[in-house]
Amino acid sequence: MNVALFGASGLLGWSIRQELKNRGFHIFEYYQNPGSEKILQSFRRLDLTDEQQVKSELLDLWPDAIINCAAISSPDAVNKDPNHAREINVYAAQRLAEISSHLHARFIHISSDMVFEGSDRAYRSTDNPNPLSEYGLQKLEAEKRVLAAADENIVVLRITLLNGNSLRGNRSPHERIFDSLKKKNPIILFDDEYRQPCSTENVASVVVELLERPNLNGIFHWAGSEVITRYELGKKILERFGFSSKHITRSSVHNCPEHLDKRPTNLTLELSPLVGKIKTKPACISQQLEGLMVPNDLFQWYRKHADDPSKYVLRI
Ligand SMILES: NC(=O)c1ccc[n+]([C@@H]2O[C@H](COP(=O)([O-])OP(=O)(O)OC[C@H]3O[C@@H](n4cnc5c(N)ncnc54)[C@H](OP(=O)(O)O)[C@@H]3O)[C@@H](O)[C@H]2O)c1
Repeated sequence: MNVALFGASGLLGWSIRQELKNRGFHIFEYYQNPGSEKILQSFRRLDLTDEQQVKSELLDLWPDAIINCAAISSPDAVNKDPNHAREINVYAAQRLAEISSHLHARFIHISSDMVFEGSDRAYRSTDNPNPLSEYGLQKLEAEKRVLAAADENIVVLRITLLNGNSLRGNRSPHERIFDSLKKKNPIILFDDEYRQPCSTENVASVVVELLERPNLNGIFHWAGSEVITRYELGKKILERFGFSSKHITRSSVHNCPEHLDKRPTNLTLELSPLVGKIKTKPACISQQLEGLMVPNDLFQWYRKHADDPSKYVLRI
């Protein structure tokens, strides 16, 4: 199967790329921002906002499947330039869905739990979304447009906060914590904001299963098996890498009124029916932490500054 993977240089795309390679798929990998990473030389550079180029590229390659992990995925970045973000998060996603439909290719689009406002109970995929942020609104609009573009051979996979190792070492929660530690910036995390994190490796395994299961179509939810506050997750990350928890300051969303109506406080997903239909099982927090690595360019710094670097066992 030939697969076009958009956002291959991003946090999730990078793991999906590894999983596709391991499983013997032939991949066309796309990125947008030039970087010094040598591996990018073998990727294809394409700006998804360039409608003509996207069309001609895909009509030329005629892939069997298209996976869309490309996005402006940080809510702050979306707020800074919502119109630009909309071009990628909404219109580019719609375009990819329309082209997939034309090619009769399988289309897998990644969406987010942020389409919901947060509640005491886990959301089902059939529940009515009600996003609080511009990012959530854009992800929801993309879902609607993508699903309108094709009524078969299409999956919208809503996922949650991602743990993982990014190509550029700067995207996931543990990489951001490393960055703050190195820069001696304060790390303030909420102890009353609940999330159900998942790992990029685990989601990658789900995505590849979905590629191979054309009978599964529509909106599905995926997440990890445990719910945790951002503060507790931060503490566990520090522990995994042998840093003292004193590096994190515990806070409450109530200390930041500007966040209160923009960020869901309790956001969890019900994983059925998907969890009963595929082989991949949701990962618990300790499994997710086991897979995390010190970013390559920080390794020397880490050996020198971690409180107890012997706690970090590199997973081969
Ligand atoms: N990260 C999370 O915790 C999380 C949680 C829930 C849902 N999600 C969803 O999961 C998906 C993947 O997120 P992520 O965290 O992996 O994102 P990410 O690390 O920010 O990566 C985004 C990807 O999109 C590409 N991209 C951005 N603008 C582009 C453009 N104009 N043309 C082509 N490519 C472009 C980037 O390319 P360059 O690297 O070359 O810039 C990068 O490969 C997104 O749909 C996101 O909404 C993420």
